Amino acid sequence: MTQIGIVQEGPDEARVAATPATVQTLRKLGYDVAVEAGAGHRSSYPDDEYRTAGAEVVPTAEAWASGIILKVNAPTDAEITRLADGATIIALLAPAFRPDLVEKLAQRGITALALDAVPRISRAQSMDVLSSMANIAGYRAIVEAAHEFGRFFTGQVTAAGKVPPAKVLVAGAGVAGLAAIGAASSLGAIVRATDPRPEVADQVSSIGGTYIPVDVEVEKTTDGYAKATSEDYDRRAAEIYTEQAADVDIIVTTALIPGRAAPRLITASDVAAMKPGSVIVDMAAAQGGNVEGSVAGERVVTDNGVIILGYTDLASRLSAQASQLYGTNVANLVTLLTPLKDGQLTLDFDDVVQRSVTVVRDGEVTWPPPAVQVAAAPAASAPKPAAVVAEPKRMSVGRKIALIVVGIAALFAVNAFAPAPLPQHFTVLMLSVVIGFYVIGKVHHALHTPLMSVTNAISGVIIVGAMLQITDGNPVVQVLAAVAVLVASINIFGGFAVTRRMLNMFTKGGQK
Ligand code: NAI
Repeated sequence: MTQIGIVQEGPDEARVAATPATVQTLRKLGYDVAVEAGAGHRSSYPDDEYRTAGAEVVPTAEAWASGIILKVNAPTDAEITRLADGATIIALLAPAFRPDLVEKLAQRGITALALDAVPRISRAQSMDVLSSMANIAGYRAIVEAAHEFGRFFTGQVTAAGKVPPAKVLVAGAGVAGLAAIGAASSLGAIVRATDPRPEVADQVSSIGGTYIPVDVEVEKTTDGYAKATSEDYDRRAAEIYTEQAADVDIIVTTALIPGRAAPRLITASDVAAMKPGSVIVDMAAAQGGNVEGSVAGERVVTDNGVIILGYTDLASRLSAQASQLYGTNVANLVTLLTPLKDGQLTLDFDDVVQRSVTVVRDGEVTWPPPAVQVAAAPAASAPKPAAVVAEPKRMSVGRKIALIVVGIAALFAVNAFAPAPLPQHFTVLMLSVVIGFYVIGKVHHALHTPLMSVTNAISGVIIVGAMLQITDGNPVVQVLAAVAVLVASINIFGGFAVTRRMLNMFTKGGQK
């Protein structure tokens, strides 16, 4: 049975890699758990709670002697030397930015798994620490901004006068951006958001924000992240930021393109145009900053009284919650790596998640992993939201009237000349076409799967009707009934096959 060690983080980190609740999960997987004394103290998890959960609370050296080390931040040089021979370390390693660290870990002959390399695919969502931490950090960015801002977020009419609502601009509507938009709008602010991915427009509006499109085409991606924007896009976006900076009270920037320095969105002249007392939170300060003048980890006040926060520890500032989510993400990864629940970690390189997170395996550098394509990402030909696409061509009024007249004339002709019971059937068919056109045509793409099950039910009715007709003496009716059974069966079985394929994308044990 391998021992998992939960070690104390550095002085600037309040999170811990396992909580008493996640220790229980690790114990159920067959592991012994050793927690360094005081490791959970700064996130409000006392040693006693770890003991109750089944862990042993041990001195520093004993925790580091474990076969598996769970950590939040990357180990320091001194910590790397503490690792046991052949140990496995699971932490945020930022391998793309820290080749030196990868090399040092490899030299120790150990195995290193980077939690920040979990691919952004549906099946790996439960292990995606970057998303769970960004969600917390986005919320905290608004809390920090509200704390600095000398006014209400919500508008009020009081006996002492009217208070206008605060205006908030969120640049980049990814995980952190959406969390910031949700937090700001729930406090009553007017929230606007930008992002080069037009598909986020619906998400922004669903949580109370207004999406500001930049009317320049951007390259679509298949890995759930944005690509670098074009010069045209940046020029138009810069105009929008200049207009917005002069108008809004708070700006939160979260723009990120993986593997690159943060794009510069807000210039010094934009900051100079902001009102005194305005607040900017540059969440990307650690990657070089989206805002000119922001300093990683610092609070800066400009000459015109604008406060720029470049805090890089926003998730750590909600340490209890952040540790719980981080610990759950880690426990989910350990669960994936312990298929037999026997306290033995195994690595399967055929599994895209396990391959992606493995940076070093038994001293061999395995970074970077092969690129992962996200099946659920928007396809290159996916339609753009209404905000940025030209309106679809509408039928002219004259043409519409002509079609209605032709339809009514056909209905009258059939009723006047066709033998019974054809007119009744024809009327029902016409009405079905009209109702079907308006009902099904208005169904959102996301609801096409449930819609498919309704069409399955209709196909079932068709099959029953066709089976009743198949014994008819007329061979034409027999052939038509057989064709109806065949076509309706294809619809039913095809529908089930497609639904099954979609559901498989969400099951464990490999993407299908
Ligand atoms: P994400 O990848 O989910 O979102 C980034 C968003 O930026 C994407 O929607 C992307 O389309 C957008 N974007 C890319 N280029 C842009 C541009 N030129 N203009 C506007 N938007 C653009 O990333 P996530 O997880 O939301 O993280 C956002 C940032 O927050 C990252 O820089 C991350 O490192 C940082 N972060 C900071 C923390 C802190 O304590 N300061 C904690 C957690 C995350």
